[in-house]
Amino acid sequence: MPTSTNPQQSLRESAFSIMTRADFDYSPADDDVLVTAFAHEIARDRWLPPGETYRHRAYQCFRMSVRDMSFQAESDPDPYLQSKEVNSMAGGVQRSFATLDPDHPVTAVTARIAAAVARQLLGAGVLAADTTPHCLVDAHYIRIYAPGKPCPEGIHRDGLIAGSAHLVRRENITGADSMLYDLSGREVHRCVLTDPLDSFVFDDSRVMHYTTDIEVAEAGRAAHRDVLLIGFRTA
Ligand SMILES: [Fe+2]
Repeated sequence: MPTSTNPQQSLRESAFSIMTRADFDYSPADDDVLVTAFAHEIARDRWLPPGETYRHRAYQCFRMSVRDMSFQAESDPDPYLQSKEVNSMAGGVQRSFATLDPDHPVTAVTARIAAAVARQLLGAGVLAADTTPHCLVDAHYIRIYAPGKPCPEGIHRDGLIAGSAHLVRRENITGADSMLYDLSGREVHRCVLTDPLDSFVFDDSRVMHYTTDIEVAEAGRAAHRDVLLIGFRTA
């Protein structure tokens, strides 16, 4: 389990921070809602190379006002688009995913997690009411079945203002070491997210990230890793 840092200071000085469950307003009931969403709402990601089926996901997009920290989930979000520059595998492709309805109970849970991250980003100056008054906040509910690749694109940036990764569950897997790198490629942090809501937050303009492949720990049992990925981009 990673050690929680002073997130604002770490974000400001090192362009990343580590957060744990205690840093969020997150109850056991919230955890049930998130786990249930992964169990029932995700669908196979059809944007992997042909024949690869290890990634399942669902998606939501929120409109966020940085000034009043409000989050409004969109009912019919646009397809998700990254540039080829940051995603050599799927960049330039308008990807649509299974979406979660704004009325789904997970919406409020995810908005609260995103708000906690946004407060850190605001305190560290990564978000600012003057320069980024309105953001689109992407929530990707990603399940990787073992054996599988959390980061098939390799060490990368997301092409956003900032992002965060929040573990929901590791189930019968090994691997998934998460690393952050400065822009010269030097590793600046390495950790394994082990407990629910173990998290890292990053300024996407200043660091790159990667997570190693996962393998089945014990044959014959379900093996997967569920992570909530959140991204902040200019609206
Ligand atoms: Fe990424």
